[in-house]
Amino acid sequence: LKEEKVKVTFVLYDGKKLETEAKVGDTLLDVVVNNDLNIEGYGACEGTLTCSTCHVVLKKEDYDRLPEEACDEERDMLDLAYGLTDTSRLGCQITLTKDLDGLEVKVPETINDARS
Ligand code: FES
Repeated sequence: LKEEKVKVTFVLYDGKKLETEAKVGDTLLDVVVNNDLNIEGYGACEGTLTCSTCHVVLKKEDYDRLPEEACDEERDMLDLAYGLTDTSRLGCQITLTKDLDGLEVKVPETINDARS
């Protein structure tokens, strides 16, 4: 059986779009790492929920259809993220499902490494 793939697009603050093919079951952080996306400082803590550099902003409709809500740890970390919005999540906590095909997320202009 072929691996299931979904399309995910990262929109950078300058409007540049990075389109990727991602595996179902990967997190958005995995997608950035596996595709070698050039997003400075992204995912500094490697998904251990201690940095908030993997902050992404989702469209409202996508935010609402994510299978999992943010846990307390993610919320705490998001509070420290630069440019927090109502539809912000941490990329390392979003696991791709088939339903999320075509997902488009924005990467904020500045990232704040909560560890520093
Ligand atoms: Fe650090 Fe997501 S990669 S919190």
